[in-house]
Amino acid sequence: MDLGFWGKLSKPFTVLAPMEDVTDTTFRQMIAKIARPDVFFTEFSNVEAIIHGELSRLKFTRSEKPIAAQIWGTEPESFLKAAKIVKDLGFDGVDINMGCPVRDVVKIGCGGARIKPEFRNQNAEIIQATKEGARGLPVSVKTRIGFSQIETEDWLGFLLNQNLAAITVHGRLVKEMSKYPANWEEIGKAVSLKNESGVETLIIGNGDVASYSQVEEKREKYGVDGVMIGRAVLTNPAVFDKNGRVLTIDERLDYLAAHAKLFKKTWANVRSMTEFRKMVKMYVNGFEGAAEMRQKLMENY
Ligand SMILES: Cc1cc2nc3c(=O)[nH]c(=O)nc-3n(C[C@H](O)[C@H](O)[C@H](O)COP(=O)(O)O)c2cc1C
Repeated sequence: MDLGFWGKLSKPFTVLAPMEDVTDTTFRQMIAKIARPDVFFTEFSNVEAIIHGELSRLKFTRSEKPIAAQIWGTEPESFLKAAKIVKDLGFDGVDINMGCPVRDVVKIGCGGARIKPEFRNQNAEIIQATKEGARGLPVSVKTRIGFSQIETEDWLGFLLNQNLAAITVHGRLVKEMSKYPANWEEIGKAVSLKNESGVETLIIGNGDVASYSQVEEKREKYGVDGVMIGRAVLTNPAVFDKNGRVLTIDERLDYLAAHAKLFKKTWANVRSMTEFRKMVKMYVNGFEGAAEMRQKLMENY
């Protein structure tokens, strides 16, 4: 199997987690500048929306490569069409979201609902259709370890049979949202299943990783090929730095100003600056007076 760009990464590699309404192209460009992961993902984007030309979540620049577009939905035919568009846009890979716990997404049989056993056949069709549309781009899946109970063996066993380039395993159940600590033992089990099955599919562990030194620990202890980090970047934009670089207050404020400028330029008439407010905390935290400064800065965006 051709793993595409995934096959060229040295291990353990790092991935910036997709985070809706947070990790847009401006966010990713800033992280690429501050301390880059090996791989970027877009926020999840609905296949029907993509087909209808809603492409704002699929905006990216060269500095964010390699980048996988994450898509979600239910209809295999729509995955095929959306994957075709993703390929034409110049992405390096297509990732299918089969883990999102948001109620409105699960309710319509998407995201984390895909883990339910009744969807196995349709999931196989979705993956096949995505591969067809992606025309040679590597296809991956991001998921959790079960819906309402742990089903790592059954669910990951199924996914490992689908000839995927990579699987990101977020060590939580769908019904747990993000309330409990991530279960890395189950992520380790996914790695054992992969090793037993002899397939090439890469396993990326995800959940509660807070620093690059923990990336190496997870590789050592659980054998994952790569580690995905999400929320930790929201307080430490330099979290992917291999030497644990700590940003100075001046650097934090300079990056905040640069991000605000980039956000304004990129989204001119599309997104208002009030949407940028949530970024302030990422840069202005962890030092004395940060809370007061944030308060003042928020008033300006
Ligand atoms: C605000 C927010 C938005 C998210 N949006 C997505 C998404 O669009 N697609 C997805 O697969 N996961 C999404 N996630 C889940 C993260 O990608 C990741 O799996 C989760 O945060 C656990 O990793 P962490 O402990 O490193 O944050 C989101 C998480 C957060 C906090």
